[in-house]
Amino acid sequence: MSAKNRTHSPSYHDVEAGAERAKPLLHQHAHEIQEYGKIAKLPIALDELVCATSADNLNQLLADTMTLRDMYKKHHWQVSGPTFYPLHLLFDKHYGEQSELVDAVAERVQLLGGISIAMAADVAETTMIPRPPRGREEVPVQISRLLEAHEVLLKEARTMARQATEGGDDGTNDLLVSQVIRTNELEVWFLAEHVVDVPVVRAADQKSSARG
Ligand SMILES: [Fe+2]
Repeated sequence: MSAKNRTHSPSYHDVEAGAERAKPLLHQHAHEIQEYGKIAKLPIALDELVCATSADNLNQLLADTMTLRDMYKKHHWQVSGPTFYPLHLLFDKHYGEQSELVDAVAERVQLLGGISIAMAADVAETTMIPRPPRGREEVPVQISRLLEAHEVLLKEARTMARQATEGGDDGTNDLLVSQVIRTNELEVWFLAEHVVDVPVVRAADQKSSARG
């Protein structure tokens, strides 16, 4: 018998012995520790009802911001035509900015003691932004959709900011005004200038005289 054939093959019992405490505990389930919509209040010197109102408002804003964020990626991928390159880049820049807002808004819901909405199905049920088609659309239609979505967001963010101030929730007001509103307003400017119908090469009022 060769040396190779005499090699000892350990049994499964031998392999597992001595590693019990290092084994991952898989397939664990339990009841959730906090129901959606309930507040687990933190010591931040704010009334529980104020926290609940702000968390509720911010979750609506979160669902709409996640939807706008994803619409930017859709348009980043699906844009076409002579402005493909600058719009491809612009849409992705705005996608990144909206992603940062998503995280800031979601984390504020948590620190208010609420539960931030997270999964796509819950976002789809909650958002007020109309669902775009799966197919590709022309650039002016893409930009119109984005502008309309921004306006939904801006309108609700301003109402929520005032409501937060009335309740004494200055942190939520600051997030809404300094980050959400100002970022969305700036993005609207960058988008809207793309659908101003100006001539590309020859000034409009010089066309007839130049031809003559
Ligand atoms: Fe990309």
